[in-house]
Amino acid sequence: MGRSHTATEHRTVLSRRALVGAGSATATAAALGFGVTRLTAQTGTPAPDAGASPAASPAASPTVVSTDTFIEPEVRASENGRLITMLQAMEEITSGAGRMAYNNQLPGPTLRVRPGDTVKVALVNGTTESTNLHTHGWHVSPSGNSDNIFVHVEPGQTFNYEYVLPEAHIPGTYWYHPHPHGQSADQVAAGLAGAIIVEGGLDDLPEMQGLTERILVLQGPFTGASNQPEYLVNGQLNPVIDIRPGETQRWRLLNLSANSFFNLRLAGHSMHRIAIDGSPLPEVQTTDVLLLGPGERAEVLIQGAAAGIYELQSIPWSPDIPSQATGQFLVATVVSGGEAVTPMTLPTTLIPFEGLDNDEIAQRRDIVFQENASGPAFAIDNLAFVEDRVDQEVQLGTTEEWTIRNTSPEWHPFHIHVNDFQVMSRNGNPELPHYEDTTLLPPNGEIVMRTRFEDFPGKFVYHCHILVHEDAGMMAVVEVVE
Ligand code: C2O
Ligand code: CU
Ligand code: CU
Repeated sequence: MGRSHTATEHRTVLSRRALVGAGSATATAAALGFGVTRLTAQTGTPAPDAGASPAASPAASPTVVSTDTFIEPEVRASENGRLITMLQAMEEITSGAGRMAYNNQLPGPTLRVRPGDTVKVALVNGTTESTNLHTHGWHVSPSGNSDNIFVHVEPGQTFNYEYVLPEAHIPGTYWYHPHPHGQSADQVAAGLAGAIIVEGGLDDLPEMQGLTERILVLQGPFTGASNQPEYLVNGQLNPVIDIRPGETQRWRLLNLSANSFFNLRLAGHSMHRIAIDGSPLPEVQTTDVLLLGPGERAEVLIQGAAAGIYELQSIPWSPDIPSQATGQFLVATVVSGGEAVTPMTLPTTLIPFEGLDNDEIAQRRDIVFQENASGPAFAIDNLAFVEDRVDQEVQLGTTEEWTIRNTSPEWHPFHIHVNDFQVMSRNGNPELPHYEDTTLLPPNGEIVMRTRFEDFPGKFVYHCHILVHEDAGMMAVVEVVE
């Protein structure tokens, strides 16, 4: 898995890097006294793994570090309650690995907004395919020129989206991507995706003040040199992330791949999870391994271990299901160095959770995700997606409980638009209370979830977020009526 920039790509990366300040990783590693090997095709040579214990010290010998300093996508932030911006879906990409990108940037720009904002996005379709735009996880209207995935924007056309976020919108980490049925996987895998941050919530906790905040948009696989798969962070192969020993950083991890799972482990460090998808957790959950299916996000706190070099890997996952098993691959390299700081005491409680446990249930539904040998290969309740069929009709303002069964031997990430849900149980086991918008249906298993169809009537979809499955038909329509 070698770095494979063409000259053009390299120039672009360098110039993008210049915008955000160059070379600190190399400088840091040099300051640490490590011999920094210029990055060639070296990612097969593992950096010393300090082991799972946060106290473990790194190997003393010099090792290999990427020379790509971590950079973040360009930020477009709202001002005075408004963000007006343009996203141009393009096929002629000079900025990196993808085949398509918004505004020639991989990933697309990060949108930063606040609850109550009005967001206007002119989507320019500069590709040769039909496309559209979806704001994954947003609680906004699914109709008209809001988060309406039934809109088709044809090549050469511009469509003006307008989203009005409720004042009570949950602050957190969201994303945008195309949603044209039949081509979603292709376009997202090609690179069309970007992060959205809704500010507030956790941002306002005293413990979060002054922390270095990073966004890590995970994408891939892209086809790299010698046809090797490459998984990228913010468009970069194995960037170097700096941290000081003892320093606490807040990372937003987004799996914006079309079909891939990331089973993340940072050597020598625990991950202290503070949010799942767009919603804060009531309590910090500490973990050594964090699984993110396609479309899922998490926010974690990381505390820098002793000076050294630590790999952020995706470690092998789901070995028992050969069709979905993933091997180990390197995602990024963390360099802990510089002046040590006294680690802050991590928070334990975060944002109080108001769940749906005590809601009156207006309707219970059973929904089955299936893979079939005959009929539609990927189906929900025996049917492949049809745009003008309504599969579930629900009453606005009510809470429902859905039992979603997976009769196939593969994982399917269940996702529904507009309203988050609370997973009440997974394979019969109760879940820690929290909201999410995408969750993994276990093979031959089930979840029970509750959701409140609040604020917005209209038609929207639920589907598997392995987008090749969605494109193959594993999607259905819900209509909320007054
Ligand atoms: Cu992220 Cu219906 O999609
Ligand atoms: Cu979505
Ligand atoms: Cu699926």
